[in-house]
Amino acid sequence: MASLWAVLALLALSSAQDSLLNICMDAQHHKSKPGPEGQLYGQCVLWKDNACCTANTSIEAHRDQSYLYGFNWDHCGAMAQRCKRHFIQDTCLYECSPNLGPWIDQTDSSWRRQRILNVPLCREDCEQWWEDCRDASTCKVNWHKGWNWSTGTNQCPRGAMCQKFKYVFPTPADLCEKLWSHSYRYTTERRGGGRCIQMWFDPIEGNPNVAVAQYYARGSAADPPRSPAPLALLALLGSALLGAAPWG
Ligand SMILES: *[C@@H]1O[C@H](CO)[C@@H](O)[C@H](O)[C@H]1NC(C)=O
Ligand SMILES: *[C@@H]1O[C@H](CO)[C@@H](O)[C@H](O)[C@H]1NC(C)=O
Repeated sequence: MASLWAVLALLALSSAQDSLLNICMDAQHHKSKPGPEGQLYGQCVLWKDNACCTANTSIEAHRDQSYLYGFNWDHCGAMAQRCKRHFIQDTCLYECSPNLGPWIDQTDSSWRRQRILNVPLCREDCEQWWEDCRDASTCKVNWHKGWNWSTGTNQCPRGAMCQKFKYVFPTPADLCEKLWSHSYRYTTERRGGGRCIQMWFDPIEGNPNVAVAQYYARGSAADPPRSPAPLALLALLGSALLGAAPWG
């Protein structure tokens, strides 16, 4: 009997893990399932072999005040392209990646049922973003909430002063974590180590985030992976089978 339970537990565990892999979140512009998208545009092209975004979304991701969210990156004056490219890449990752399953969280907002929470971003991706944007300006720490939308695009709320990013976000972690209310988590993990999500990658070598999602799916969403758990179950299964006299 113990062995049967162990088998069932293993099956349940592995299907729970699989359900976190290769999926699209239930949000405003995402496809219901990932698949090839040969016409992805510009910086989003990295995901063309398997994407949650359409070609239309990938084009719109590059536009100021696009059809996607009407969001204005230039709310405190024009943002330099060197900085803006990181916001475009952030949008591409959010809209296109099928590898964010372990960090999908339910949300009650009016415009989406799911969001991402605490995606462990590679250190280099976050630091380069901060470095390239330190002299750009903004009036808010959390860009999800508190804007004045009366004109159809986000404007600084009354009393919010435009300041350089380096004062609004003193560290790279402040930028990556606070900007989108903890969609990202700053980590000290390095690119290529399989333990953090890359916003940028070389598609010639495949999508490195596939393995990262697999690694974290073995644990649970925001927690460190509990790799001993499957091992303990295997041990249990092994001893149950060995001790299963009736099958002997
Ligand atoms: C994307 O689709 C929307 C809605 O159908 C449309 O308004 C917009 O013009 C399209 N964008 C492009 C670049 O085709
Ligand atoms: C919002 O923006 C409009 C148009 O610029 C302005 O008239 C209004 O006072 C603003 N409201 C707040 C609360 O900042």
